[in-house]
Amino acid sequence: MNRGISNGMIYFFGALGGLLFGYDTGVISGAILFIEKSLHLNSFTEGLVVSGILVGAIIGSAISGPLTDRIGRKKIVMISAVIFCIGAIGSALSSDMISLVLFRVVLGLAVGGASTMVPMYLSEMAPTKIRGALSSLNQLMIVIGILLAYIVNYIFSPISGWRWMLGLAFVPGAILFIGMWFMPESPRWLLKQGREQDARSILTHLRKGIGVEAEVREIKEANQKEAGGWKDLKAPWVRPAVWVAIGLAVFQQFIGCNTVIYYAPTTFTDVGLGVSAAILGTIGIGSAEVIMTIIAVRLIDRVGRKRLLVIGSVGMAASLFVLGIVNMLFHSSAGAGWTTLVCLAAYISFFSISWGPVMWVMLSEIFPLSVRGMGMGIGAVFNWASNLVVSLTFPWLLAKLGISVLFISYGVMGILALIFVIGAVTETKGRSLEQIELDLRNRNELKNRYQTAVGK
Ligand code: GLC
Repeated sequence: MNRGISNGMIYFFGALGGLLFGYDTGVISGAILFIEKSLHLNSFTEGLVVSGILVGAIIGSAISGPLTDRIGRKKIVMISAVIFCIGAIGSALSSDMISLVLFRVVLGLAVGGASTMVPMYLSEMAPTKIRGALSSLNQLMIVIGILLAYIVNYIFSPISGWRWMLGLAFVPGAILFIGMWFMPESPRWLLKQGREQDARSILTHLRKGIGVEAEVREIKEANQKEAGGWKDLKAPWVRPAVWVAIGLAVFQQFIGCNTVIYYAPTTFTDVGLGVSAAILGTIGIGSAEVIMTIIAVRLIDRVGRKRLLVIGSVGMAASLFVLGIVNMLFHSSAGAGWTTLVCLAAYISFFSISWGPVMWVMLSEIFPLSVRGMGMGIGAVFNWASNLVVSLTFPWLLAKLGISVLFISYGVMGILALIFVIGAVTETKGRSLEQIELDLRNRNELKNRYQTAVGK
């Protein structure tokens, strides 16, 4: 590999796919206001334009998960970059609703691919001690992408420039493609393919020659047994990881995070704030996300994933309960409007130090190498499908139940998420990916022995 490439560049370009994920999912909240008029949308076709990307992402993560186990991590990020560029230009130039929806679905394929690949690439490159921080760079890029989208929306709003809003995503897409061209493939994937020399030279570069032989040995030892296929994913020792992945993926969405990200301006105006306050409030929410995610990057390897999830669930649920109760008692008053803003900022801050980054980090850690792509793909598919359900039902539930009952219901989800984390999630901080794999085997072994003993 090229000696001029620093580790910083590897982690930067490795994480950059997250920025497109964030930009492309965030930009539509503002752009839709202008697209609606320009392409004469009704509420149904508006829903299609907004959620097309989520449908694409479900398909993209379903395809890229299994595919990566065969063709590698890097190639899928590069293919995603090309699709990001096509989707950006295509949607910006769309002259009717149908082509716009189709290009949003195409974009979604890339978003799904990036959501599956980026955390995995980062965690397979990273040294154990700071793996959480480096993998969280994915989420940091996502929230920077969302904030950029909010700012671009703000800038282009006066000229109704929705084509610029959508088309500008071409620039990071092209940078991602060129950057990834020069980046190395994941050494773990290479070892799984039997390309030991290539893997060793990349690890030597990444670790500056320290502990390379021990790491190569550990990865090889952990991966002699399974060939890697759907059958292995169903093996009794891997199944608990599948359930944890699905639980994390579904709860992350059902606590309602994207109702805030996608509908913040609507929610603010709904509780009585003016339009300009609503736009500024939205940028405030985006900034809070970035700041809190930076804090998460610093905390995740010290405090641990599980503890962050616990803190996040409690904080999010509490913010939602306060929001719900205040709006129930003082609906449409200025006080309720500002309390809503503060509660949503607190809620999104708790999300950003916990479920936002930790879910993606843990999905990339808990599966054995032989089925990591597939396992990660399953988690991502559940995450995108839940995202679709929550986003599509939100406007309808808001109209039916009202803001108080709805947000209190998301709060109840937070409590269920807390119970799930305490009962089912095992800490992965400080353990190498191979130790985590071994723990999974050992737990199954213990369970078998216990059941045999009890059976006797
Ligand atoms: C996480 C979620 C994603 C959300 C983003 C915003 O990445 O998976 O759905 O939009 O956080 O913070």
